[in-house]
Amino acid sequence: MAQFIQCTEQNKNAIRDELIAGLLAPQAFTSPKYLYDALGSKLFEAICELPEYYPTRTEAAIFNAHAEDMAQAIGPGSTLIDLGAGNCVKAGRLLPLLHPAQYVPIDISVDFLREAVARLQQRFPAVDMTAVGMDFSSSLELPDAVRRDKRLFFYPGSSIGNFTPDESLRFLQRIRQACEPNGVADGAILIGIDLIKDAATLDAAYDDALGVTACFNLNLLQHLNHLLDADFNLRDWRHRGFFNPEQGRIEMHLEARTSLCVRWHGGERRFERGERIHTENSYKYTRENFMALLKSAGFGAMRTWTDPRGWFLICHAQAI
Ligand code: AVI
Repeated sequence: MAQFIQCTEQNKNAIRDELIAGLLAPQAFTSPKYLYDALGSKLFEAICELPEYYPTRTEAAIFNAHAEDMAQAIGPGSTLIDLGAGNCVKAGRLLPLLHPAQYVPIDISVDFLREAVARLQQRFPAVDMTAVGMDFSSSLELPDAVRRDKRLFFYPGSSIGNFTPDESLRFLQRIRQACEPNGVADGAILIGIDLIKDAATLDAAYDDALGVTACFNLNLLQHLNHLLDADFNLRDWRHRGFFNPEQGRIEMHLEARTSLCVRWHGGERRFERGERIHTENSYKYTRENFMALLKSAGFGAMRTWTDPRGWFLICHAQAI
C-alpha cells in the first residue's frame, strides 16, 4: 500500500492573514493555490477535457510521440517526484516507461491526492509509492522517506506559468538545490511549458463556451467563504479570463456585477460595480526565454520536444 505523509500543518491563521491582506489590497488578489479545494480540483480536471483548453492534450500528444526518446534521456531508477500530482494521470502514463525506483506524488489538495494514489498503486503494485501532502510552492524540504538518489522533478501542465517570472526563478533554484541532497548534482527536471501563441486561442482556452473555467474561478469564492467564514454571494460575480500581451500572461479575475460589501469574521471590503479580484496569472513563454530561465537556475544539458504547431514544450534539464 502507498505510504502517505502529511507534511505541511495547514496553519489556519497564516492562511486567513494572507487571504485578508490580498482582499484588502487596493487591487484585490488571491493566490491561485486557493482555486484547488476538492471541488476546484475536480473542476480543473473538467477544464482539461474542454475542446478549448489545448495544453493538456497537446502535452499528452508530445509525451506519446516522444516517450521513448524521453525515457532514454532520463534513464531507469529515478526518484520520480510529481509536483502537483493531482489525479496522477500523467505519471500513470510515465511509470511503465521510466521504471522509477520510487514514485513521490506531492499535492496541496490532500484528500484528492489520497484517492488518486490509492488507485494508481492498485494499477502498479510493484512501484514504491510515497505520497506527500504539502504546499511545495513555499518549501521543498522533503521528508526522509523520499529517496535522495537521482531525483527527477516532474512538473507538467505548464503549472510553472502560475508563478511570476521572479517566483519561477526562485522555485527552479529550489528544485535545483533539491537535486543534490547528497552533495552530488545527480537530479534533473522534466517540465511542461505553454508557449506564446495567437491571442484568440489563448482567450478561448481560459474563457470556454461551456463556462467550466468560470465555475472553476467562481468556486474560489465558495472556498473563501469556507476559509474565512465570509459571505461572498457567487451570483454577484462574473468570471474574466483573457490574454494580456504586454505581460505575456493570461489573467483571471472575478468582477463584481454590482456594488457590494463582503464581510468576514473581523472585517469587510466594499467593491464597486466592475471592480475585480485578480485570482490567477498563467504566464506563457517562448522556448528561448524558458531555456534562459532554466540556465539561470543552474540547469543544463537541455533536451526539448514540441508539437507540430509549436504550442507546447516539454523540457528535460540536468542539474549542473
Ligand atoms: C494549473 N494551471 C497550469 C492551469 C493554467 O492553465 O494556468 C490552471 C488553469 N486556470 C484556468 N484554466 C486552467
